[in-house]
Amino acid sequence: MNNHPLSSLISNQGLLEDIANEYGTPLYVYSENRLKENINRLSSAIGNSFDNHQIYYAVKANSNIHIISTLKKAFNSLGCDCSSPGELYAAQKTGVDMSDCVYTGNYESVDDLKTAYKSGCEINLDDLNSLKRLGSVGVPDYISFRLNPGKGHGQFKGIMTGGKDSKFGIPKETITNAYSLAKEMGVKRFGLQCHAGSATLDVETFGEITKLVLNSAKEIEDCINQRLEKISIGSGFGIPYNDDDAPLDLDLLFYKIQNVFSDHYGKDNSSWPVLCIEPGRILVGDTGFILAKVTGMKNSYKNFIGLDAGMETLMRPALYGAFHRVLKIGKSQQNGTLVYDITGRICENTDRISENYTMPEMEEGDLCAIMDAGAYGYSMSHNFNTRPRPAEILINNEEVKLIRKRESIEDLFRDCDV
Ligand code: LLP
Repeated sequence: MNNHPLSSLISNQGLLEDIANEYGTPLYVYSENRLKENINRLSSAIGNSFDNHQIYYAVKANSNIHIISTLKKAFNSLGCDCSSPGELYAAQKTGVDMSDCVYTGNYESVDDLKTAYKSGCEINLDDLNSLKRLGSVGVPDYISFRLNPGKGHGQFKGIMTGGKDSKFGIPKETITNAYSLAKEMGVKRFGLQCHAGSATLDVETFGEITKLVLNSAKEIEDCINQRLEKISIGSGFGIPYNDDDAPLDLDLLFYKIQNVFSDHYGKDNSSWPVLCIEPGRILVGDTGFILAKVTGMKNSYKNFIGLDAGMETLMRPALYGAFHRVLKIGKSQQNGTLVYDITGRICENTDRISENYTMPEMEEGDLCAIMDAGAYGYSMSHNFNTRPRPAEILINNEEVKLIRKRESIEDLFRDCDV
C-alpha cells in the first residue's frame, strides 16, 4: 500500500485528526497535487501519439466545480463530457467553454435536448429516435452518434456499456441509418463516439474497441460519402483498487490506439480525425478518500467495524461488489491480523464497505480512510435513512480548502415547505 499516491497523506495522523475535528466525518478529502499529476500524465500520453486530440472530462465521475476547475487550471484545453443538464451546469459554472463540451445522454427528453442545444455544446446522440426528438428543437451543424459495437468490457457486469444487453448506443448493424437521416435533416459535419465499459486495466481491450469503432467509421463514411471529423473512444480507463493491480501504461495504450488509426487512415497523423476521450475515473479516482470514524465495534457471528460512512456515502461496494481498501489513519498501522466486515449505519444488510477484510485492531473513535473514492463516490452518494451528505475538502500540501459544505438535516426538508 506504500505505493499509493496518497499514502503519505494517510499516514499524517496529526493533520487528519485536526481535519476531522474541524470539518467532521464522514468527509471526502481530495489531493490537489494528485489531480494535477493525473491530468498532466494523461494529456502528455495522448499528445505523444496523436497530433489532434481532445480530452472531455466525464463530469459524472465527480461534479464538484472546484475539482473540475483544478483540472482545467492544470490543462487549459480541457473540455467536459456531460450527461445531464446538471452536469452541463457544473461545466458552465466552472468556466469551461461550451464549445469544448459534449452532451452524451441516454433516452434524452426533449427538455434535456433543448438545454444541450441552447448551451452550444456538441451533441452525441444515443439513438435514431433521439435525433427525431432533437429535430423538434433544432438541427445543429455537427453531430455524433454513440455506437454499440456489439461488445462491452469492464470490471463488473453492471458497468459494461457495450454488447447485446446494453441500454446504450446504436447497434453497429444499423448505425448508418442514423447518419443518413441526420444528413437529410441538414446536419453538415459528423463524428462517432463509443463508450463500451468502465474500470478496465487491460491495454489490449482499448485497441480492440478502437478497431471496432474504426470499422463502423468506415461504413458510415462510405454511406454518407463524407469523412468523420472526430472519433471518440469514450473512456473506461481503470485504476488500481487493489494492492496487486498494475496501473494502466498510458503511453503504451495510446501507442496501440495510434497503430490502429495508422492501419486505418494511413501514416499521416495530422490528417486523422481528432481522437477524443472522455476520462472520469482515471483523472479523479485515486485523488480522493473518505475520512470516516469508527462509531461502534461488534462481535456477532462475524466481527464488525461500524463506521459513520456507509452505502449512502459510497455506493460502489453495495451496488457492484466493488472493493475499496480501508486504511487505519497513521503511520505503519496497516499490517492487520483481524478479519472484519466493515459497515455503516444504514438499515440494509447490503450496507458493507468491505467484507472479510483484514485490518489492524480498531477501537471506537479511530479514524480510517476508504481509499480511491474520488470517482463515483460523492457523485453517487445519497440520502437514504435521511442521512445528510458529507462535506468535501481539497488539500494542497497542508493547506485545506472546504469545497462543499456538509448537508444539514434542514437542507433535506427545505423543499417540503410547499
Ligand atoms: N463517457 C461516457 C459516455 C460514460 O458513460 C462514462 C461513464 C465515461 C465517459 C467515463 O468513464 P470512466 O473514465 O470513468 O471509465 N458508477 C460506475 C461507473 C459508471 C460509468 C458510467 N459511464 C462505477 O462506480 O464504477
